[in-house]
Amino acid sequence: MGLRTRFAAGFARQLGHPSGPAGRLVARMLNKGNSRAVHGAVDAADPRPGQSVADFGFGGGVGFRPRLDRAGPTGHVHGVEIAETMLDGARRRFAAEVGGGRLHLHSGDLTALPLADASLDAAITTNTIYFIEDLPRAFAEVARVVRPGGRFVVGIGDPEEMRKYPFTAHGFRLRPVDEVVELLQAAGFAEPERRRVGESAGAFHLLVAERAERAEHAEHAERDGPDR
Ligand SMILES: C[S@@+](CC[C@H](N)C(=O)[O-])C[C@H]1O[C@@H](n2cnc3c(N)ncnc32)[C@H](O)[C@@H]1O
Repeated sequence: MGLRTRFAAGFARQLGHPSGPAGRLVARMLNKGNSRAVHGAVDAADPRPGQSVADFGFGGGVGFRPRLDRAGPTGHVHGVEIAETMLDGARRRFAAEVGGGRLHLHSGDLTALPLADASLDAAITTNTIYFIEDLPRAFAEVARVVRPGGRFVVGIGDPEEMRKYPFTAHGFRLRPVDEVVELLQAAGFAEPERRRVGESAGAFHLLVAERAERAEHAEHAERDGPDR
């Protein structure tokens, strides 16, 4: 494997699971490069004072400050991450908010969220689903923890645009936007509103979905009866 390929593969691994000193650098880079996209996702999730909101795979945590501001003193912000380096960084930078019980940082996986059923009013996840193989399971988990009528915003780079970056050849799952939309609906979200962050053809995508009042599985349970 050539040096360039090795670097691209290592960078891809760090993006999917930032770890150690290199992970801390990646977190800074993510916060800078993704700030506009993450802020766009927070705006689209539209958190209100007093609400409980979450960021799954928060990375450098650039979305925490606007979320804490909007949720206000009585609101709760949750962050879920698989990467300990990202959790440690957030614990340090937001020590006051964690200590004050406004920010809750959880070590966990999008496919098995450490949160109670219907406990969130809104959630976002940006630039994470490229690293998730079992996306139906992850979206089912989000549908479980977001209350009926709550919002879920998925942010992804444009797949064609992403394909131009050499590191995405190393394990990234670049799903067509329509496929992500279908999976959201299959998990129990209403058809999402499609927004873009920027004007160009390759601009970042935001899928703004509302959790249906009744989840698909609940409808099945009702139709099929409790004994089946
Ligand atoms: C490319 S970074 C994006 C960070 C941030 N959301 C942003 O847009 O800047 C991907 C993040 O998702 C996290 N991640 C990857 N797979 C995950 C999973 N299954 N559950 C939770 N977090 C995950 C990684 O640890 C990493 O911090």
